[in-house]
Amino acid sequence: MPNVPLVDVRAQYASLREEIGRRIAEVVESGNFILGPNVEAFEHEAADYLGVPETVGVANGTDALVLVLDALEIGPGDEVICPSFTFFATAESIVRRGATPVFADVDAQMLNLDAEDVAARITPRTKAIVPVHLFGRPAALAELAELGLPLVEDAAQAFGAAGIATTGVASTFSFFPTKNLFCLGDGGLVACTEPELAERIRMLRFHGSEAKTTFEFVGYNSRLDELQAAVLRLFLTKLDEWNAARREAAARYGELGLGELCELPADEPGHVYHLFVCRSPERDRLRAALTEAGIGNAQYYLPPLHLQPALRFLGYGEGDLPETERAAAENFAVPLWAGIGADVQEQVVETIRRAARVGVA
Ligand SMILES: Cc1ncc(COP(=O)(O)O)c(C=O)c1O
Repeated sequence: MPNVPLVDVRAQYASLREEIGRRIAEVVESGNFILGPNVEAFEHEAADYLGVPETVGVANGTDALVLVLDALEIGPGDEVICPSFTFFATAESIVRRGATPVFADVDAQMLNLDAEDVAARITPRTKAIVPVHLFGRPAALAELAELGLPLVEDAAQAFGAAGIATTGVASTFSFFPTKNLFCLGDGGLVACTEPELAERIRMLRFHGSEAKTTFEFVGYNSRLDELQAAVLRLFLTKLDEWNAARREAAARYGELGLGELCELPADEPGHVYHLFVCRSPERDRLRAALTEAGIGNAQYYLPPLHLQPALRFLGYGEGDLPETERAAAENFAVPLWAGIGADVQEQVVETIRRAARVGVA
């Protein structure tokens, strides 16, 4: 175990442990664990927070995507454009529906879908675009919306980011414990701008049924549970504070001079820094130095999705998505969480500074 983790999940809820215990005890006392008052209340509170008419709690962020694509009746013969530089679940959900993911390249600065490249990949079979708000940075939604196709925002990494969830027909969230808004296990949410779509997803998450005795269509068993919803209601009240702390920590890396040693993630007001992902052609050496110093670090999406074994059947090859492949070869994440200490960040920067100096010598 590194001395400094990449993400200290426990530090984020340390001050809330008593209140978490109280809320869990309340649910245990109620004996009501599935689709009860906490899920319903959380769905309303999350909808208010996001500025959408309705949200639907589901089992995880992957199911959230599958349910939305199902509700949009996307299936065999359809194409859905998404990035390759993202977590596997983005494309997996499209394949799970029997549809074909079409990978577009990312913008080199933002690491989100490049709208121009997306436009070039639209065909008569394209049924939707899935932009990902990668690492907490909002994708170029206005530009993508101009392309005239339904947008399904994969917002798994971006709860609280500015300007998201109100453009797409639906947005999906994951509450995996490292996410900006997280629960104590698996959980997910779909936010809908169209109430009819939310209605269909609500039925799909319970076997295609509304009344629970008649089954209108074949669905899933994919529900957010009461224990997680009770905790999420508490955490949602802390989210803005946590995201502000993440932004402060991100700014501090700049002040400490990390930008002289590698490329920092481009900042913008809406970015909530799910992860702090830098770039350097010397990535492997810098990572080795961090690991040696006991400092948590990671690289993301190598190989990117278009080169993953499970998706080989799609027929992509090396060189097909140059910016994606360059980002996958150069990126590395350094520790960041809400409440990370300045001393820890100094240690990270000093370790990289020493490694960078050795590289020059
Ligand atoms: C971009 C993205 N999409 C989808 C998911 C899937 O979420 P979950 O792990 O809750 O199924 C994740 C997270 O793990 C993710 O990062």
